[in-house]
Amino acid sequence: MSKISTVHRCGSCGSTQPRWTGRCPACGQWNSLQEEHAPPLVLHRAHLSRRATADQADLWGTGPQALVEVDVRGHLPVPTGVPELDRVLAGGLLPRSATLLGGEPGTGKSTLLLQALASMALAGRRCLLVAAEEPAQQVRRRATRLGADVPDVFVVEATQLPAIEAAIAQLSPDVVVVDSVQAVSDPELASGAGSVLQVRECASSLAAAARAVGAALVLVGHVTKDGALAGPRALEHLVDTVLSFEGDRYLSLRALRAVKHRFGPTGETGLFEMGESGLSGVDDPSALFLGDRLVGSPGSAVAVPVEGYRAVLVEVQALVGRTSQVPRRLVTGVDAGRVGFLVAVLHERAQVPVSDRDVYVSVTGGARAIEPATDLAICLALTSALGEIPVPPELIAVGEVGLGGELRRAGGMAKRLAEAQRLGFETALLPAERSRVPRARGAGGQTAHPAGAGLRELRAPSLREALVLTFGERALAEALHQHNRRVRSSERT
Ligand code: TYD
Ligand code: MG
Repeated sequence: MSKISTVHRCGSCGSTQPRWTGRCPACGQWNSLQEEHAPPLVLHRAHLSRRATADQADLWGTGPQALVEVDVRGHLPVPTGVPELDRVLAGGLLPRSATLLGGEPGTGKSTLLLQALASMALAGRRCLLVAAEEPAQQVRRRATRLGADVPDVFVVEATQLPAIEAAIAQLSPDVVVVDSVQAVSDPELASGAGSVLQVRECASSLAAAARAVGAALVLVGHVTKDGALAGPRALEHLVDTVLSFEGDRYLSLRALRAVKHRFGPTGETGLFEMGESGLSGVDDPSALFLGDRLVGSPGSAVAVPVEGYRAVLVEVQALVGRTSQVPRRLVTGVDAGRVGFLVAVLHERAQVPVSDRDVYVSVTGGARAIEPATDLAICLALTSALGEIPVPPELIAVGEVGLGGELRRAGGMAKRLAEAQRLGFETALLPAERSRVPRARGAGGQTAHPAGAGLRELRAPSLREALVLTFGERALAEALHQHNRRVRSSERT
């Protein structure tokens, strides 16, 4: 008789511990250990030997050969036909590869993959969708709504690993999507569906089954809000590519990023909008993010973060309110810690008395501005909100702010400036070129000559001087003076 033993597996890092502790000794996560019954040894071995056979077939298929003689034909990525997805995948899905698409429930993973399967099927690929979470009828209804109900997309409603393996072997598809891997279980294993052990063993068996027929495998993995993903993180080393699909379910914008990609770079970002008829790629993100901008209102500035390999214009908005006791900092789309830092630097180094106020900062349209190069625009928005003085509407700001109040240069400047110019901006507020700009007049200056993208450049060595160049020395002093008067009179009442 084989013995069933109990272990405690961490839902965060997948490590096992002989006994339960409040905190995982391996990764430090709290409350992540869950009791798990290790399967009987004999079953486990049977399971392993099945996979070992598939892996050995892989290993021993060819002996050593000259690298230049390796046949790469048939090993080219298959375009998914969804341009933003292909952009992130550096061309498409590679045959025999395994990809994990992670994201919170409701971000649109099923929608994205259904659209991809439909366009691959239209291009003559044989596609299999394993519906492990939804009935096939529901998938069909969604496909009809998306215009994705095309022949050559096959669907199988299954949650048990052997049934899925059989379907893959029977259809021998070019692409297999399993939605979701957490809903699949192997009856040979003792632990329940969704446990780390199940998810890992099933993913590995599914990858072997897909590889055996030359198919590309895509696994959907649900991730919870705090990132404490039971399962998907334990899969990251098993698959070739990990994609993360992010977005607020109440907003239409979605961002797709490659966290890991064995066959190409990981820096690219795909942007989508979720609409009535599914996901559509965002061709002009800057125009989308700036679309509803109230030009000339205080508390608004334009930043140019680099998303993937693209520079994108976003609107940073700030609101500065009175404080009852402890000043509040509420942010969306920017880093809260960074905003706290910038508030302190504004207060101490640029004489903008914002520290003891409530501060709200957000990036409109669900976009993000978490790069340090967006510091300067955040500071402009905060100063503009506090002083009730608008930032010139045709100005963009790029630069990192240091603790000393100095401005630091950011990379990718040419593409940021080119994007700003394309959208009709005229002036760029930038850090001074330290070695080349003469410090005449003791401050930053204007370079009249158009550089690179043809924008007028305002160069400032420090945050204080950047504020002076943006608002004008007298207007800034007057705005801060008026602010102080408002504060004093409200304190009296
Ligand atoms: P879904 O793809 O089911 O998300 P996931 O598989 O990541 O859980 O879709 C998520 C949401 O998108 C769902 O709440 C409804 C919405 N949606 C649309 O707005 N338009 C559409 O065309 C579709 C199919 C879904
Ligand atoms: Mg889904």
